[in-house]
Amino acid sequence: MKITETKNGIFVLETKNYQYVIGAGELGIYHLHWGTPCPREDFEINELEEQNSNHSSLDFTPTEYAPYGGTIYREYALKCLFEDGCRDTVLKYKNSKITENTLELILNDDKYGLSVSLIYRLFEENDIIERYAVIRNQSKSKIILEKAASAEINLPGQRTYTVINSNGSWGGEFRKTEQKLETGTLSFESRKGTTGHNHLPALIAAEKPDEEYGEVYFAVLEWDGNYKISAERDFTGRTSAVIGLNDFDFSQTIECGKEFRTPSVFCGIAQGLGNMSRMMNRFAVSHILPKRFANETLPVLYNSWEATEFNVSEKGQLELAKTAAEIGCELFVMDDGWFSTRLSDNAGLGDWEVNRDKFPNGLKPLIDGVNALGMDFGIWVEPEMVNPRSELYEKHPDWTYNYETRTPSLLRHQLVLNMTKPEVKEYVFGFLDKLLSENNIKYIKWDMNRPFSETGTDNLENGKELWYRHSQAIYSIVDQLKEKHPDVQFEACASGGARTDLGSLSHFDMVWPSDNTDPVDRLDIQQGYSLLYPIKCMRAWVTDTNKTARPVSMAFRFAVSMQGSLSVGSDLTKLSKEEIEDCKKYIALYKKIRRTVQFGDLYRIMNYAEDKIYFNGYVNEDRSQAVYFACTGANSFFGNRFVNLKFKGLDENAVYTVKSEFRNYRKSGAYLMNKGIDIIYYKPLESEIFLLEKE
Ligand code: DGJ
Repeated sequence: MKITETKNGIFVLETKNYQYVIGAGELGIYHLHWGTPCPREDFEINELEEQNSNHSSLDFTPTEYAPYGGTIYREYALKCLFEDGCRDTVLKYKNSKITENTLELILNDDKYGLSVSLIYRLFEENDIIERYAVIRNQSKSKIILEKAASAEINLPGQRTYTVINSNGSWGGEFRKTEQKLETGTLSFESRKGTTGHNHLPALIAAEKPDEEYGEVYFAVLEWDGNYKISAERDFTGRTSAVIGLNDFDFSQTIECGKEFRTPSVFCGIAQGLGNMSRMMNRFAVSHILPKRFANETLPVLYNSWEATEFNVSEKGQLELAKTAAEIGCELFVMDDGWFSTRLSDNAGLGDWEVNRDKFPNGLKPLIDGVNALGMDFGIWVEPEMVNPRSELYEKHPDWTYNYETRTPSLLRHQLVLNMTKPEVKEYVFGFLDKLLSENNIKYIKWDMNRPFSETGTDNLENGKELWYRHSQAIYSIVDQLKEKHPDVQFEACASGGARTDLGSLSHFDMVWPSDNTDPVDRLDIQQGYSLLYPIKCMRAWVTDTNKTARPVSMAFRFAVSMQGSLSVGSDLTKLSKEEIEDCKKYIALYKKIRRTVQFGDLYRIMNYAEDKIYFNGYVNEDRSQAVYFACTGANSFFGNRFVNLKFKGLDENAVYTVKSEFRNYRKSGAYLMNKGIDIIYYKPLESEIFLLEKE
């Protein structure tokens, strides 16, 4: 049995390696244990009733979902406003429902007809527990939620934890950070309407963070939109966190008889950060990604953005497509600039008719041309936006978020459409459905290039619901489109990586992680991305960025981009013959190893910060194929030249052939992993790809 109620009110949840224990007591739902399994019958509830004017037991008792009410002075999970003005919630445990892999704990506030179900769903093999709450209004009046988090997370022990997250920005997403949480609260959040570039919507904590060793506790939110992670260390030394929707400008009305379900959070314990990434990679592929393409390798794509920007035309795109096909690309994506009056970013968004000056005969000749070259065709859109310089805005200025009394802030010359209006949703679905129905399009790059502001709505009774409703509207449009056009892949992009999260990835098939395609910077970005998100979903273009400012070889560029879903974004009309040959060579090699990269186990073996070299390996499931990428740093200190590369994840007892452009070995897995090979790299920014095949 994976879920048992051992004594009255004590629930023991067991995944492959860990145990999670909850106690439903008189005063609350207590968190009793999360870690290595113990005999189930040993657990008991010790209700802490230490209550005086200085210390409230509610503040230091580990709970599962504490509401705002009574003497709680710390971060809570739920805050309600009842019709009579009462803002104090008292939840009492009522009963539970257990199925094979799900526990539902039902708590009620009888006075106000409020019922909260805490859901725990076990993914036994993945060692992951999904948590969320369903909040029901069983009263005869409205209930307003002022906060509705997904879960409280409690970390064991009283020692200080280090919290891992990221200090990202546009063009510099996923730069990993480590902060010791000694006292007070550490919070990571977004108030922008999407997840944003800055932080990971997740809690990752370890006493001593290490790639390979030590327990890492993680909880990852499945939401694209305003979120908040508040981690706190109390005066007893215990660390806990509340994770879920941001309560900033948040409010949700639950009408009588209705319910509100919070986003899910996926929790696990890993041995080392590397193991966490491998767990999450496998879990996302099996349980998060939309099913249709989850287990398929993704095509090598060409994207025209960096080559042409807005200057697209039938002739120009076909010229690029010809070379894209020649080098081995399988999908050609035309980016921004193909529609309406879109000559730059200051006009056209909202009017999704093809620009007839650029494409006199519509999109068909281009798509046919691309198809005749043996590639699928994809296209860029930014559906939830409008430029004031557009017909759509002239007709429907009220379709944007705005306040009549305020001047809307333009960012990138555009405004956000009020996606909570049914007519706007219909319009967006309608134009995309038409585009996909009338053209042989196999790929949509869905962009979103500005955060929300002046978030007035004239259609919602509770205006603050817009944040939640907006994200739900996007999800539902994408889902409906997928249902009608099942063979179309969707990429989520938001000025680079501002929509990279498990929420997006449960509806979109992949993401664009950053507008920064400089290969050296990208190594850091990809490293941070790989902490939690699936490798196959990370689009990685080879481009011409910094070609002259800091020259980097094609070989290095490919060695970086081949570590995700390989794509090309160079101006193919300007590449030399040698560079074109390089493209052909590396794309052909990628096709041989792509299943291993996209679905294998990633080992982050060495990194710039500690080793002055990046060395990452990807190993397939039966360890018969592995591919490792060595990329040296930008500096050329003499001592950096000598490296000992130890391979990881191999079968110790097997013999492998090891091939790179420069070397050839035949060695045992044991030797490669324990002794490793010694190499001298003479130049800065050198790269080497090692392909290992089991004999
Ligand atoms: C921002 C995206 O991140 C880029 O890849 C590109 O699609 C531009 N928008 C187009 O405007």
